[in-house]
Amino acid sequence: MLLPPTPAAIRRAAAALRRGQPVAFPTETVYGLGASALDPEAVRRVFAAKGRPDDNPLIVHVTGLPMLRGLVRGLPPAARKLAERFWPGPLTLVLPKTKAVPEAVTAGLPTVAVRVPDHPVALALIEAAAVPVAAPSANRSGRPSPTRAAHVAVDFPGLLVLDGGAARHGLESTVVSLGDPPRVLRLGAIPVEELRAVLPGLVVATRTRARAESPGMRHRHYAPARPLVLFRRSRAAALREALAADPKALLLCADADAPLFPGRRPVRLGGTPAEIAHGLFDALRTERRGSVLLAYALPRRGLLRAVMDRLERAATRVV
Ligand code: TXA
Ligand code: MG
Repeated sequence: MLLPPTPAAIRRAAAALRRGQPVAFPTETVYGLGASALDPEAVRRVFAAKGRPDDNPLIVHVTGLPMLRGLVRGLPPAARKLAERFWPGPLTLVLPKTKAVPEAVTAGLPTVAVRVPDHPVALALIEAAAVPVAAPSANRSGRPSPTRAAHVAVDFPGLLVLDGGAARHGLESTVVSLGDPPRVLRLGAIPVEELRAVLPGLVVATRTRARAESPGMRHRHYAPARPLVLFRRSRAAALREALAADPKALLLCADADAPLFPGRRPVRLGGTPAEIAHGLFDALRTERRGSVLLAYALPRRGLLRAVMDRLERAATRVV
């Protein structure tokens, strides 16, 4: 059930959260499937609804630093610097947790991932529920993250969804753990370059390390309803052959590259890196008729680095 986010609808969603019922809400990144972070039963319902592996911890959403008190064991200086610069916003910090955070939220880890969403509806909902809200992206496990309320309704018919329109970023938050050195565990809506301007020592975790520290990175993600083949930059000729061999193949394409494929009517991702990041999950959920999806590598800089991470994880095959 999609509801416009009126004050009455937000009160209704907050009451559902307090009763232990999951509800979906918009954030600036993607839609979240929320439950009270202090209610292990409600959190288990979120895992069950998503079909999420139970070793994959959730992000806890709060309205600001005061609500964090009691959930984390202090803020190291590096965390404070990042929070001051990027909250509210698409940055998730992994910090040592207190006993107040149930193990169901953190999948038994000693740390908890937290963020302050930059979205008036998300903030109003958490405020009205007066509890921190644990929320993964509101998709069935393994599917692309939902950037619109309608995507949530496809994956969870009947669920209460506050409809805030299209998500502003369309790509999930960047996840940073504050060990020594601080590490990016998941690339996301804040590019590494911007984080390094505040924390020069920040490194990007290798895949092996990210998988070890952030269980979500182990699982298959973002799978479209049909196969996706990703072509490396050096394989332009192979991409042309694949397109020529299959007239029904749908090409995901940055606007600037569309003229390279005359007569193909590609699925347009957008022009600027922000538009491409915004268009990616929508494109992966395209309802256009066709056979396979074909995509090609984009330069790994700024936001496009996170876009490439998602394309690689969504791909059935990399050529
Ligand atoms: O933008 C976002 O982050 C969205 C919106 C709804 O806030 N949420 C989101 O949640 O993408 P989810 O559950 O789809 O992804 C959470 C990621 C996973 O990769 C998970 O493994 C990691 O955060 N994570 C959560 N808690 C962690 C922890 N304690 N240590 C390391 N990684 C953690
Ligand atoms: Mg997710």
